Amino acid sequence: MFVKNCWYVAAWDHEVLADTLLARTILDQPVLVYRRADGTAVAIDNRCAHRGAPLSMGRREGDAIRCMYHGLKFGADGRCTEVPGQDNVPARLCVRSYPVAERGRWIWIWMGDPQRADVALIPDAFSLKHPDWRYKPGYLHYDTDYLLICDNLLDFSHLSYVHEKTLGGSPNIAQSRPVVTPLPRGLNVTRDVRGTVPAPYHARLGGFQGKVDRRFNYDFLLPGVLLMHAHVKPADTPDEDMTGALQFHSCQALTPETAHSTHYFFMQAHRFRLDDATITESIYQSLCAAFEEDRQIIMAQSRMLDATPGGQMHPIAADLALARFRRLVQEFSEAEREDSMPLPAAIHRPVHAPIA
Ligand code: FES
Ligand SMILES: [Fe+2]
Repeated sequence: MFVKNCWYVAAWDHEVLADTLLARTILDQPVLVYRRADGTAVAIDNRCAHRGAPLSMGRREGDAIRCMYHGLKFGADGRCTEVPGQDNVPARLCVRSYPVAERGRWIWIWMGDPQRADVALIPDAFSLKHPDWRYKPGYLHYDTDYLLICDNLLDFSHLSYVHEKTLGGSPNIAQSRPVVTPLPRGLNVTRDVRGTVPAPYHARLGGFQGKVDRRFNYDFLLPGVLLMHAHVKPADTPDEDMTGALQFHSCQALTPETAHSTHYFFMQAHRFRLDDATITESIYQSLCAAFEEDRQIIMAQSRMLDATPGGQMHPIAADLALARFRRLVQEFSEAEREDSMPLPAAIHRPVHAPIA
């Protein structure tokens, strides 16, 4: 189940250099991402309209691509401009071109109706390019449905268990009550964890001697984009006092490759010790270690679900945000199918998830 009328992250900017022809499957569509001579990004179908050879095996000629099987040439708008040995170029000999926009260091692609591709709908991943923040970019490939990864990101109670020895550090996280607030195209989730033991990695980074307060505050937006402010600071200090705090901003985007595989673009930026590259690297490494823990449990869950197709799931209070997001995905994709725009906007009051 995909929502098509959405901006998806297609690539990090460094994956598409001046001469790169990047082949990437997105929502089951083989797409070619490349750059025009002026550097702007382009996305067209990667399947040649003639006999299906990958255009990513072709050659860039100015802003166009020549298929290196029988030589057809396609412009950045997807139109065929040249057929060797033939004077006329039938209009049907075209490939689809997709709206593309580059923001910060992400190249976004619109997979739905091009008429609805409004750049105002691109999530504001501001820390991808901001002088106050540093990060190292990351990418993971998952062999599973992207919604299982959305589920994971919408319920941080798993930090206490999956990341017990890395990002978690304490059962308090699972016991704290998140506040879930609907947004027009997603949810906001805020979880305050007071007076908890710092994760070993945070204790090292922040030099914390005693207990800490932790806050996770993130928007989770269609189609699967997490934008999170998080901090760790000494316990019992005023909320607005960020002296001695470790402040993070994380941008993560899930882009379905197929119904059963996912591209995962991520980063966690820090706002302290900006000139120390070893800090940036160690935050990246600790994130990779934690995400590998997520991958182990999610892939094991995915295999179990595949092996037990009739098996039931029994909801608990911690499922609130993920259940709401899944409903939103369903509502938007059904609305697209029926083409009954405007799309539904979820307007509800904030909800405190009861403790199970
Ligand atoms: S398959 Fe591309 S030109 Fe023939
Ligand atoms: Fe996790």
